[in-house]
Amino acid sequence: MKVVVVGTGFVGLPHAAVLSEYGHEVYAYDIDEARITAYKTGERDQIERYVNEPGLVAAINESIGRYLFFTTDITEIADGADVFFLCLNTPPNRDGSSDLSYYLNAAHHLAGLLAKRKNMNRVVLVNKSTVPIGTARLLENVMNEHGVKNFGVASNPEFLAQGNAIEGSRKPDRVVVGCDHEEDFAIMRRIYSQFVNHVRIRYLETTPETSEAIKYVGNTLLLTYISFWNGVGARLGEAHPNLRMEDLKIGVTSDTRISTWGSYVSNGAGGSCFGKDIQSLIYQLNQAGRSTDLLQAVYNINEYQKVYLIDRAVYEAGFDFNQKSVALLGLAFKKRTNDMRDSAALKVVEALLARGVQEIRAYDPLAIESARNYWFNPEKNQLFERIKYFDTAKEAIVDSDALYISTDWEEFRGLSRTIENNAQPPYLVIDGRRMMPDFKNLVEKGYQHIAVGGTYLKPE
Ligand SMILES: NC(=O)c1ccc[n+]([C@@H]2O[C@H](COP(=O)([O-])OP(=O)(O)OC[C@H]3O[C@@H](n4cnc5c(N)ncnc54)[C@H](O)[C@@H]3O)[C@@H](O)[C@H]2O)c1
Repeated sequence: MKVVVVGTGFVGLPHAAVLSEYGHEVYAYDIDEARITAYKTGERDQIERYVNEPGLVAAINESIGRYLFFTTDITEIADGADVFFLCLNTPPNRDGSSDLSYYLNAAHHLAGLLAKRKNMNRVVLVNKSTVPIGTARLLENVMNEHGVKNFGVASNPEFLAQGNAIEGSRKPDRVVVGCDHEEDFAIMRRIYSQFVNHVRIRYLETTPETSEAIKYVGNTLLLTYISFWNGVGARLGEAHPNLRMEDLKIGVTSDTRISTWGSYVSNGAGGSCFGKDIQSLIYQLNQAGRSTDLLQAVYNINEYQKVYLIDRAVYEAGFDFNQKSVALLGLAFKKRTNDMRDSAALKVVEALLARGVQEIRAYDPLAIESARNYWFNPEKNQLFERIKYFDTAKEAIVDSDALYISTDWEEFRGLSRTIENNAQPPYLVIDGRRMMPDFKNLVEKGYQHIAVGGTYLKPE
């Protein structure tokens, strides 16, 4: 099949690379010229400036120039393509609704090209972006407005988890395809032929609206489960010194009906999807006049979870952040990515600055460049000049008065020694990820410790 992937970000680029492995002729298209120029080089450092996923560079280099092509112009290519995957960003508006401007710009552009095509074979336009229920219908209207003929629309939501995009695309749990017409289902079956009738991968065909809803319900349910552990499990651990959080998790999730995935406590779930998708679903249900109490509670719990440890440091440890220097370890929203979208660290930084810290000494193995870009513009907030960037955790800790762990990078598990060698008691360690199994040794040596799901510990 001749396939065009429109938008080559975290979703589009891995999707294009994996589709090309199945022998489809894939054109990965983006309006961002710098991005496409970088991808064309096939070089690791160039590609990973934009999308950093294990296995991605190898997958691109396997197919580039043979099955996979990068372009900023699809004027010629559009004629004769069988399928277009729309992988555009759909960020939240202030009111929680989805900003469809990027998506609609691309849709109108495509419609203009498709209206003029000479090859009149059936073409399917597939939404891979997460879009409100009813957007496939909207896409259909855009195509009709431009007079496009012989087309179908489909919803095929992306379920990948960042950090596992390539493997997740090669072996998804399920592939969901929502179409209106059998001929469009048939085209989609050819695209995903290796998953149709697969023994382990569920290949589900349904209506576009159901498919769109599956994405929102799935994502908000995951966030609800995570927020249950944060809103209930963590609170219990913080109230009872003798409660062992890890044993609580094992004891509860040994029930085969209860998921182990998500049964951890943390300083909130970030990333480009959870917060955005739950806000969008709340907005969509409100528009339909339906109650959203549960979703609203989940959203609030998750957002407060990102900063509540700062409040605990003030109210439980009596720590005064004013004029202090704080080491911030971990900026990405989770390990193995450089993506900072909706990361807890963004809120932690704002909370620390609001409490008057003099300096934030930031370190992350992958996300320093993303962070510099994010906090660069001094006009946005001059306080961001108080953020300093370091190449190692050790350098960030030196000369700081307290430490905040925000991301679950494995290297933070061995921090105790670094803390002992570089910070003097009664230095305060705030652990948003429970990364320090040996924290009791530190407390015995005079350090203070506050972790999510644990009581405040200080030397006797
Ligand atoms: N990131 C994830 O983990 C994830 C997972 C599942 C679903 N999604 C959904 O997938 C969609 C894409 O997310 P993403 O993280 O890949 O976004 P992204 O911001 O990383 O990528 C979007 C890309 O689209 C390009 N673009 C914008 N306008 C364009 C146009 N008119 N024509 C061509 N290209 C254009 C941008 O330059 C950018 O490269 C969103 O709806 C998101 O909610 C994301």
